[in-house]
Amino acid sequence: MKKIKLNYRNDYKIPNHVVETVDLRFELGEEKTTVTATMTVKANVKAEQTADLLLYGKDQTLCHVKLDKTQLSDKDYKKTDEGLTLFNVPKRCTVEICSEIKPQENTSLMGLYKSKGMFCTQCESEGFRKITYYPDRPDVLAVFTVTIIADKKSYPVLLANGNLVDTGDLQDGKHFAKWHDPFKKPCYLFALVAGDLSHIDDHFITRSGRKVHLAIYTHQHNIDKCHFAMTSLKKAMKWDEEHYGREYDLDQFMIVAVDDFNFGAMENKGLNIFNTQYILADPKTATDQDYANIDTVVAHEYFHNWSGNRVTLRDWFQLTLKEGLTVFRDHSFSESIGSAAVTRIQQVNKLRNFQFAEDHGPLAHPIRPDAYIEVSNFYTATVYEKGSEVIRMLKTILGDELYRRGTDLYFDRYDGQAVTCENFVQCMEEVGDVDLSKFRYWYEQAGTPVLRIRSKYDRKNKSFYVVIKQSCPNTPGQQHKKPFYIPLKMMLLDKHGKQMPLKLEDKPQRLKNNVLILEEELSEFTFVDLKEKPLASFLCGFSAPVKLHYRYTEHQLAFLMTHDYDRFCQWEAGERYTVNEIIRTMKQLQADETPTNYQILINAVRSIFDEEYSDKQFTAEMLLLPTLAYVMQHLKKVDIEHLCKAREIVMKRIASELEDSMEKYYQANQSGDAYNYSKDDVGRRHLKNVCLAYLSESQHPQRFDMALQQFETADNMTDQLAAFAILVNKDTPYRQQVIEQFYQQWRHEPLVIDKWFAIQALADVPDYYDQLAQLLKHKDFNIKNPNRARAVLASFTRNLKHFHDSSGRGYQLISQYIIKLDAINPMVASRLATSLTNWRQFDKARQKLMKQVLKGVVAVDRLSKDTYEIVSKSLAKGV
Ligand code: BES
Ligand code: ZN
Repeated sequence: MKKIKLNYRNDYKIPNHVVETVDLRFELGEEKTTVTATMTVKANVKAEQTADLLLYGKDQTLCHVKLDKTQLSDKDYKKTDEGLTLFNVPKRCTVEICSEIKPQENTSLMGLYKSKGMFCTQCESEGFRKITYYPDRPDVLAVFTVTIIADKKSYPVLLANGNLVDTGDLQDGKHFAKWHDPFKKPCYLFALVAGDLSHIDDHFITRSGRKVHLAIYTHQHNIDKCHFAMTSLKKAMKWDEEHYGREYDLDQFMIVAVDDFNFGAMENKGLNIFNTQYILADPKTATDQDYANIDTVVAHEYFHNWSGNRVTLRDWFQLTLKEGLTVFRDHSFSESIGSAAVTRIQQVNKLRNFQFAEDHGPLAHPIRPDAYIEVSNFYTATVYEKGSEVIRMLKTILGDELYRRGTDLYFDRYDGQAVTCENFVQCMEEVGDVDLSKFRYWYEQAGTPVLRIRSKYDRKNKSFYVVIKQSCPNTPGQQHKKPFYIPLKMMLLDKHGKQMPLKLEDKPQRLKNNVLILEEELSEFTFVDLKEKPLASFLCGFSAPVKLHYRYTEHQLAFLMTHDYDRFCQWEAGERYTVNEIIRTMKQLQADETPTNYQILINAVRSIFDEEYSDKQFTAEMLLLPTLAYVMQHLKKVDIEHLCKAREIVMKRIASELEDSMEKYYQANQSGDAYNYSKDDVGRRHLKNVCLAYLSESQHPQRFDMALQQFETADNMTDQLAAFAILVNKDTPYRQQVIEQFYQQWRHEPLVIDKWFAIQALADVPDYYDQLAQLLKHKDFNIKNPNRARAVLASFTRNLKHFHDSSGRGYQLISQYIIKLDAINPMVASRLATSLTNWRQFDKARQKLMKQVLKGVVAVDRLSKDTYEIVSKSLAKGV
């Protein structure tokens, strides 16, 4: 077994030294890059004194170390694979380190690397140590000055954080640029870019009247696709001023879009670096979903300027302090600019599909983990999505005004510091005058809480009695959970669907603005003054990240689908209903019975059309069936074949019974006008395309002709891709034709070709594995580009029916690629490995096959810590 070090949250020690300033000098070359770091170091008076200075560093050749200008010999320091320790340094000193790195050979895309001819960096979380030897930890904050030297012809644009303070020409066709960032920052926020880039300009006047220069950089051929992202940025800047009182601080804000990037984007101070996927858009190549994602991701990274950069993290265990909060901020932003209901529903879908699954498996961890081997494995749905829900709950508990006072206090008090989740909760506690001690369990305990609700109406006393029992399943290392503090928003409806008064018999402090506070294992409430038996609607707006069980009848669910005031609950009623229908159908198939009787379901879906919601996107969302991944969570053991079949049957049934309405809505929502990314048009397109998908379920040639027609005549990617997906997803007559046509049309647009790969990898065709093999052999498949690798491989793992093929060939194939990728890019590899970790959900035969390949991966020589952690944890004994 490997010798692997676990890091524990409780081992935190403040650093022995602080770095006050650091001067970085980069000589970028084709063969090698030389980095010279000169830092002024000071002993930390608060630390337990040791005079040894610890600098992390790896994957570089050390050239020299100087202490106060004197070169050290190797007796004065110790060098290991992880870093350098300089012995006995004075209380104040200057340390100069020179080393050489090879960005052109860096396939991990962490640290300094090259992407399509440009140099760029990614340092969060621990990439800076691949650039130079440095105290690479988030609580060491320094003022950075960066000088970049490079060939002027190949790299005319030289960027780093902060303000440009000097430029000039040098010998041999070289030039330099010098940047200074006045704000102290941890090194994970450092960034550098050098390349032959174009840019677009704009500006933003802050509310205090300062003019901020905005620029988005990318390769010349993409420059026309940056305008939408620029509008996203300006919307985000304004929103943060209005909703959080946060103003931008530097005189300029730059974004660079790069093709090869491990994540979505990165919030480096004043110089955000983005995956092109989240910047580039025009109607012809980007879908409505892409536009929405750009709004969200641009806002997210911008919002980090306060929640992350001005106030940063003490240590990586606190990651949710910046990510959970910033996701909550970008969620709120997206709700405010799009369809609020649909945006919320999509957030909940994401949480339930990914985070609930994570919370239920061997990798479950609290939003603030206690231990890790490799921190990059903790950029998870739990830290992000559940972390965001935890902030949302705080806001629900405190109310809008006090929440805002709390964030103001947090940003004021901790500006320029590296802090903890606890500091944030304390601010909320202080302004809210509430005791949040039980709320803190959300930070400590993993697992998705389950609420079981029972109720009884007492006609004589006109009262409605509700009892709520909460529990939380065991998770690795956590057996007995303490009850969570849960805000449960609810409503009571009368038989006409009107809201009834919510009045508690006692304990009035436990009900505020329709929110009940649960803090014990068992909570009982009696609502009074109810003239008739109410229908209860719980968890409005999804007020807490929990699973809720309450015995609704089919008729009650159908009633809520049309009458609930809360859009989320309305949708949720439909979701509950269809999950039940799919499971019922599955059981009938398992018992060899013919599934019948969908009348209530059909009527309920028909009523969705009859409602004529003004928000078309909401109608479309109501029509979509729950994902397989979500239905799976309702089953103890998954029978994947019957489950897929059952979902298909339900879809086909709806399609055939409601064909007329689908046809009508498909036609009525065609738009003759040019593409516009507006709420209304997005809704029309979404609704129209959902209808088209249902219509094509009939397999009728006329329906495929309709889809082909849309594919060929569409003036925008949303419509073209929707038709493409329909024609490619199944073995339709036009499948090969459109695959070829689409490729020829878009082969020069990598982001569109990613979609082309992804849709094929997600398809359901009889010769699936042959088709997949073709994709993996395709000349445009490039495992080194994360977007392309994910388009094929991650999509394949999400194709549950084929990935979980009973032969086990899906597992074999993915394990080969995990191993291959691990040697190239450990972060992408370990992400991919998570697809095998929930093996306990499947039947014995599949469990065995999955475990077998996991064991094969973990046995690989020189496996990265990243992949090792994911795979070994998933194989560990059950909880
Ligand atoms: N700080 C992260 C980038 C990051 C992710 C660094 C993983 C290191 C490891 C950034 O702010 C972020 O969260 N990006 C998200 C997108 C966002 C909209 C949730 C991403 O890249 O997926
Ligand atoms: Zn983030």
